[in-house]
Amino acid sequence: MAREKRKFVCQECGYTTPKTLGRCPGCKSWQSFAEEVEALITPERHRGIGQVSREPEPISQVKASDVERHLTGMLEFDRVLGGGIVPGSVVLIGGDPGIGKSTLLLQASDALSRNYGEVLYVSGEESVSQTKLRATRLGVRSDTLYVLCENNLEQIEKHIEARKPKVVIIDSIQAVYLSSIQSAPGSVTQVRECTGHLLICAKNRNIPIFLVGHVTKEGTIAGPRILEHMVDTVLYFEGERHHIYRVLRSIKNRFGSTNEIGIFEMQNTGLVDVMNPSEIFLNDREEQVSGSVIVSSMEGTRPLLMEVQALVVPTNYSNPRNTATGVDRQRIALLIAVLNKRVGIDVGDADVFVNITGGLRVDEPGIDLGVLMAISSSHRDIPVDRQTVIIGEVGLGGEIRPVTHVDRRIQEAAKLGFKRAIFPEYNRKGLDIDIDIELVGVSDVYDSLGALL
Ligand code: TYD
Ligand code: MG
Repeated sequence: MAREKRKFVCQECGYTTPKTLGRCPGCKSWQSFAEEVEALITPERHRGIGQVSREPEPISQVKASDVERHLTGMLEFDRVLGGGIVPGSVVLIGGDPGIGKSTLLLQASDALSRNYGEVLYVSGEESVSQTKLRATRLGVRSDTLYVLCENNLEQIEKHIEARKPKVVIIDSIQAVYLSSIQSAPGSVTQVRECTGHLLICAKNRNIPIFLVGHVTKEGTIAGPRILEHMVDTVLYFEGERHHIYRVLRSIKNRFGSTNEIGIFEMQNTGLVDVMNPSEIFLNDREEQVSGSVIVSSMEGTRPLLMEVQALVVPTNYSNPRNTATGVDRQRIALLIAVLNKRVGIDVGDADVFVNITGGLRVDEPGIDLGVLMAISSSHRDIPVDRQTVIIGEVGLGGEIRPVTHVDRRIQEAAKLGFKRAIFPEYNRKGLDIDIDIELVGVSDVYDSLGALL
């Protein structure tokens, strides 16, 4: 009989050692090791693995199977998935607690079960009656949506085998466990092995499986990094908890493009697709206040117009504060440095607050120039014209660097009634805009300030 193999696994990154260590050599976190028993390959597992292996075929003769995707009925969700769910794929959805992962999947399950047959929603965290309460609130009452409150994956697999559902939801992967593995649910080994089992299950039965994944305080999905490599699609559900907007972002997708985002509004009756996001993030565009500018960010295939606000005020502290919501603080520090060195605007003795309205998070460099303009506008207390959209990446030399899809960004702004676009001069060549809008090309920060303030 095989001897049990014990090992210590870092719960943050999955690094394994035979002896426990104070600090993980892999991810440098302290006291992160826990003892686990290594999963042994049982004859049963061997059979499972055996089933998926097939004969190699010449690619020219492989029939392109017309993959019929299942639609969730939530347009934004389907778009992020690349046009619906591919049967046999495993989709991991991560996000902060309370952001709305269960809500999203319960709503999607409703439509899926109506259109394609039985959906099995496995709730490892909430009781059946809690799920029912949420379902009532969401108006979910499909007869073919089945709820199962179970944490044991062997049991869950039995149910899948017996009921043959069309779609399975596991809420969450950290709550389920295999009894053949001794470590606790949520530990690296459990999460990895459970995901492995579910992958085989999805591929063998050709059913899509959604996994809900909790995130760590650093914002990545808890469990080993390889989890993201194992599954077909990784989506993050994010947003400011106190705002009504939620963004579903694709990080990895074997069946669609990544960096695609879907936008939802959290209402009393659940999540609702936001079809015209630019218009929503730009409401109340009447008054002119200093420090507020409109930028355009490419989110996947869509340009998204949004408002950046900055507030520059004399500090009361010996070290001025630099606070950012929705944008990277390091990026703000860099832009402040460029402003100082290249234009001579010094905000070093002031607190700088930067905010993207609507609770969005953006890390696209195309909004650099807009952020810089918002800071200068607030510093000088001169408003920027609200009919102008600002596009451009800022380099360390104060130069305005080209951005991707400049046409689409300008076109979108023109469609929404903007009168003027400030954009990188570099991008002018080959620019193809068929709607009337004034185009102002700029090559450095100095130019841009001249054009705007
Ligand atoms: P939930 O789906 O439980 O989040 P997660 O599964 O990611 O932890 O979302 C819970 C939050 O959503 C909770 O704070 C209340 C809010 N909510 C609404 O605003 N409207 C609704 O219709 C529902 C069901 C939830
Ligand atoms: Mg939940």
